[in-house]
Amino acid sequence: MARVRYWAAVGLAGAACLCVSAAQPVAQTKQPAGVTIQGKAATPTPEPVAETKLLMNGLAAANLRGLGRTLRDKPTEAEAWAFARGQALLIAESGNLLMLRPPKTNGRDDWLGYSGDLRDAGDKLARAAAAKDYAKARAGLAALANVCNRCHQTFQVATRVDPFAE
Ligand code: HEC
Repeated sequence: MARVRYWAAVGLAGAACLCVSAAQPVAQTKQPAGVTIQGKAATPTPEPVAETKLLMNGLAAANLRGLGRTLRDKPTEAEAWAFARGQALLIAESGNLLMLRPPKTNGRDDWLGYSGDLRDAGDKLARAAAAKDYAKARAGLAALANVCNRCHQTFQVATRVDPFAE
């Protein structure tokens, strides 16, 4: 009997420990990214993994080219509009990813500003595509390409994009 009570007490103590350790991650959210406390990683925060160049080619340029093709003439199929909306949103989302990659030295504010503009312009174009508004979508695509080119000019990137070139 005494033994049973002993194990019950150990069980309770164990449960108390579990509660304490379960509460720890909440406290850890206040720590800066990557800080490790008592052998446990802090709550994950967004961190860049891919090179900026890869995002440019794989996300920004690929989807801008696709939009140029889809919107060359007024789409007749709902599917094409839905596709254009998705491509615009992927570019908008790439604005968020660019915000994680500001230059380490100069131009941080410009970079964050253009990244936000890219997100807004992509979002606006996505809305025009959702509404199947061809005039607004064409204007939105031109405005989007302007954001690409303005950022490239500011950061002396030689690439000039033109979604209507093909
Ligand atoms: C916030 C700034 C910024 C915005 C906005 C931006 N870019 Fe870029 N882009 C860069 C930088 C910086 C580079 C150079 C990257 C490198 O070489 O490491 C680059 C390079 C490129 C390249 C050349 C990649 C290569 O292989 O050399 C292409 C293509 C490109 N961007 C397309 C786009 C398109 C399309 C958009 C808009 C939909 C866009 N970019 C928006 C900053 C930006």
